[in-house]
Amino acid sequence: MRTEVAIIGAGPAGLLLSHLLSLEGIDSVVLETRTREYVEARIRAGILESSTVELLDAVGLGDRLREEGDEHRGIYLRWPGERHHLDFVDLAGRSVWVYGQTEVTKDLGRAREEAGQEFYYGVSDTAVHDLTTDRPYVTFRSADGEDVRLDADVIAGCDGSFGPSRGAVPDAVKRTWERTYPYSWLGILADVAPSTDELIYAWHPNGFALHSMRSETVSRLYLQVAPGEDIAEWPDDRIWDELAVRLGHGQDGWELTPGPITDKSVLPMRSYVMEPMRYGRLFLAGDAAHIVPPTGAKGLNLAVADVALLAPALTAMLRKNNTALADAYSDTALRRVWRCTHFSWWMTTMLHTSGDPFDARLQLSQLRWVAGSEAGATGLAENYAGLPIGM
Ligand code: FAD
Ligand code: DHB
Repeated sequence: MRTEVAIIGAGPAGLLLSHLLSLEGIDSVVLETRTREYVEARIRAGILESSTVELLDAVGLGDRLREEGDEHRGIYLRWPGERHHLDFVDLAGRSVWVYGQTEVTKDLGRAREEAGQEFYYGVSDTAVHDLTTDRPYVTFRSADGEDVRLDADVIAGCDGSFGPSRGAVPDAVKRTWERTYPYSWLGILADVAPSTDELIYAWHPNGFALHSMRSETVSRLYLQVAPGEDIAEWPDDRIWDELAVRLGHGQDGWELTPGPITDKSVLPMRSYVMEPMRYGRLFLAGDAAHIVPPTGAKGLNLAVADVALLAPALTAMLRKNNTALADAYSDTALRRVWRCTHFSWWMTTMLHTSGDPFDARLQLSQLRWVAGSEAGATGLAENYAGLPIGM
């Protein structure tokens, strides 16, 4: 089998890349280990930066997002006894949208299906070969058990943090940076109207809490917990009680309304960056090349920004034999990756408690500065609402 771009992974990066390439008339085949149903139901990110929304609009994927998503002007920052609203539109001229990764993935899946995209879901044993030649190829076993060889001009590694692409870049070529944070998030999805109009990021001596949402009837909330926390230790009532304490239930007339929990999971938190994001004819995008801790909601937006750079680079390479953008791809993408890596680390370390009383005093001092100074608030707003693609 032959295609122009073999795309490994049908997460947001892989699906959006296939969409952007097809708008340029470039063929791709998408390989995915999971089923389409699994990928579309996987609960992950929920916040889209303005540049992500503008891109989705520009490529015909903004209709349902505009109808069912919810535009937010900013967030609340709170700590015991204080609550401050940061208005990103006033501060940085940009908003964010609440629209789940599940919905982005469904919109992309539908658009690709309508365009006749060739997909292989449920594949196994994916491996990449001959990456430093101009005839690279991928081998995999299809869901029917057939061994397939897919020849391509280029391979796009959009296979997340557990896929084979990252490992295909030899150690002698790559450099990696990693930080594992000493806490995890316990995330819940609940069938209850959000108790807030905008997201609440809360610092508390017991640990960080976040009140997010998915729609007018579905709330998404997170609690900082110990790494490797056993979810069995967290019955629903304990989760709601702890969220109420950390988010400030009863203060200034604000109340948290609990409801039935429909999903519960513990997420580890780490930062990871691999450089370069290219090896020969293999180009990495999204979580395959970098992971950020979720505080600050950057993971999905970074994956989108990567492929927004990669699609024109591959188009110029394959259609005009011009490799300038492809040669610059890794450096260009990594500028934003490191900006978001810093922002996610900064939000994480400002809001999660470590038990060290000196750290706690510094965190509260920083929160007061961010909430009380226009310069501090603008820095957070500019990064959270998102810098322009290609910054
Ligand atoms: P992925 O979405 O991971 O897609 C990669 C795809 O490749 C997957 O579908 C995978 O099955 C497939 N794949 C893997 N191996 C192979 C193979 N061998 N062959 C073929 N296919 C393969 N970000 C936020 O901003 N906010 C959040 O709240 C948030 N929560 C998260 C919760 C979890 C549990 C995780 C894991 C991530 C979360 N993120 C969050 C991060 C965000 O979801 C990711 O940054 C985003 O999904 C990146 O998209 P991607 O397409 O690069 O990777
Ligand atoms: C969500 C996740 C985040 O990491 C974040 O910073 C904001 C919102 C969410 O899942 O809704």
